[in-house]
Amino acid sequence: HVDNAVPDIDDLRDVALAAIAAAEDLDALEQARVTFLGRKGELAAIQKTMGSLDDAGRRELGAKINAFKDEVGAALADRQAALEDAALAARFEAERLDLSLPPRRVPPGRPHILTQVLHEIVDVFVGMGYRVAEGPEVESGVFNFDLLNIDADHPARQEMDTIYISADDDIVLRTHTSPVQARVMLSQPVPIAVCVPGRVYRNDTVDATHSPVFTQVEGLVVDRGITMADLRGTLLAFAQGLFGPDVDVRLRPSMFPFTEPSAEVDVSCTFCAGDGSACRVCKGTGWIEILGAGMVDPNVLEFCGHDPDEVSGFAFGIGVERVAMLRHDIADIRHLFEDDVRFLHAF
Ligand code: PHE
Repeated sequence: HVDNAVPDIDDLRDVALAAIAAAEDLDALEQARVTFLGRKGELAAIQKTMGSLDDAGRRELGAKINAFKDEVGAALADRQAALEDAALAARFEAERLDLSLPPRRVPPGRPHILTQVLHEIVDVFVGMGYRVAEGPEVESGVFNFDLLNIDADHPARQEMDTIYISADDDIVLRTHTSPVQARVMLSQPVPIAVCVPGRVYRNDTVDATHSPVFTQVEGLVVDRGITMADLRGTLLAFAQGLFGPDVDVRLRPSMFPFTEPSAEVDVSCTFCAGDGSACRVCKGTGWIEILGAGMVDPNVLEFCGHDPDEVSGFAFGIGVERVAMLRHDIADIRHLFEDDVRFLHAF
């Protein structure tokens, strides 16, 4: 049986084009492709009727089918491109960066309170014309002791609670910043005016006022005609620079192997203004010890290449933790080393 009625597929094409135009996303579009062009789809069903046509009918239907495929295929490709463009545009919109938004706040860091105080102290001396010098924390016994007139059986050698690196005292963790005095004098001509910030180490047990690691600022001035009056004036300027113009300093006799004469230096109490009350900080004395000082011992000048008949000098060593605790009313030195941010944020 040959049926020459070639099916009219124009209606099907209109339905297909309408479905494609209506497809709202790529899934719906794929669904339309399967429905009309798929192996088991509408066009395939029509194609199966080929066998029942005569030659002319087949040719005619073949041409229509090809036209259908071209037209519907082109519509599918167009629609796919349009949907992909829309999807990309939607994604761009969704992921748009709003550059007008304020940035998330990163809390700014700041130097540790001990570093702040160290810088303040150094700034005072730099303001007076001092240079900054530094030396090693692992130091030879020669610099830490011998050149400073601390000889092998001097009691200070034991009193200093040295932490040793080698079995004898050839190599130690420096017990003070004073060895840098020797390093500077050995390498520089007069006039010398240096301050030496740095860490020092002593075999001390930790408590509210002791730490095996602490910080000093050494000062050294050597020139012709330097006197104790220069030392006193310098220390007064330092104390006032750090604690304010109203403070005074007082020197009490003391003893260091590397200075002669030597002094413990007190600053007047800024907490009670010396009214003699039961002040927690100065214990009612009105004075607080903040450093050791003295005139550079002639032996030290000589050991370090300077003629004690030609030049003289003074030196001092400031305890930075102590100054920081006084300045900021910190009761326990351990606060300065424990890195508790709740504490550190106060400064
Ligand atoms: N080096 C002494 C100490 O650590 C301090 C000091 C320095 C004293 C300079 C006098 C002169 O205790």
